[in-house]
Amino acid sequence: MEPIARIVADIAAEMRGIAERGTVAFYIPPLASVPADKFGIAVVMADGTVHAAGDADEAFSIQSISKVFALTLALGAVGDQLWNRVGREPSGSAFNSIVQLETEHGIPRNPFINAGAIVVCDVLLGRLQPREAIGQMLRFVRELAGDDDTIHIDETVARAEQETGFRNMALANYMRAFGNIHGDVELVLGTYFHFCALAMSCRQLAMAGRFLMGDGRVEGHRVVTARRARRINALMMSCGHYDNSGDFAYRIGLPGKSGVGGGILSVAPGIASIAVWSPGLNEAGNSHLGQLALEQLVHRTGWSVF
Ligand code: DON
Repeated sequence: MEPIARIVADIAAEMRGIAERGTVAFYIPPLASVPADKFGIAVVMADGTVHAAGDADEAFSIQSISKVFALTLALGAVGDQLWNRVGREPSGSAFNSIVQLETEHGIPRNPFINAGAIVVCDVLLGRLQPREAIGQMLRFVRELAGDDDTIHIDETVARAEQETGFRNMALANYMRAFGNIHGDVELVLGTYFHFCALAMSCRQLAMAGRFLMGDGRVEGHRVVTARRARRINALMMSCGHYDNSGDFAYRIGLPGKSGVGGGILSVAPGIASIAVWSPGLNEAGNSHLGQLALEQLVHRTGWSVF
């Protein structure tokens, strides 16, 4: 294989020249003003070496990628009981869809669609106050990234989501009607919006994803069991890109989780943790160039799990 440093640099150079970039998320106002010409990539290898290029050190809104960290915390808190409240199947629907909830008794298909992540937040609030849950999340992600306290929650983004999140409010209230939200809807959503508003760079995100690439340990410290790491990866593979998950598996063949900020966290098991960022999205709400970049990466490295 060619040196990974060269591959990463080539991909960033190639992405810089591509004009078709998709559409920046407009429904969350602060995200709409992020320049579409950004592109960053960071690859953290199992031995700890980091390769980064482009805007890899610029913080962006990780949005739904936070659903991976929230799921990890909720599994840590309640274990497999979580699966009584949320499923493990791809939805085949948009990330913010409400339709399946009606016939499926208010149980979301998986923890990576908005409805599922809102339930995950409600589960965390079964034991913690919102401020504690938000603090726990921030500490967790900072620790995973290697005690990086520049990682923060962008309050402007959280507030904008609170002001414009009518669909999420509908989802939460609808699930409350089925008895699958136990806490106060506003507090659950406030927690959810703060998680989505986590701001970090590709380098920080790839560092934070290290616990998923091996046996659940980072630098000798156990974050999750090896079995849990495998299972989170399985969910990322089957559900991490909403109704685009099949296509992501087909093109890239790695577990991955996207966010409408244009980031994708992807894991090459046993090999690397990868983060890419480009704000322009495809119709499913996934980064257009981010997916192209990952496609190039697996093509040149052979890292697909298949
Ligand atoms: O709740 C929302 O709609 C956003 N905060 C997060 C959505 C998201 O990132 C979906 N990703 N593709």
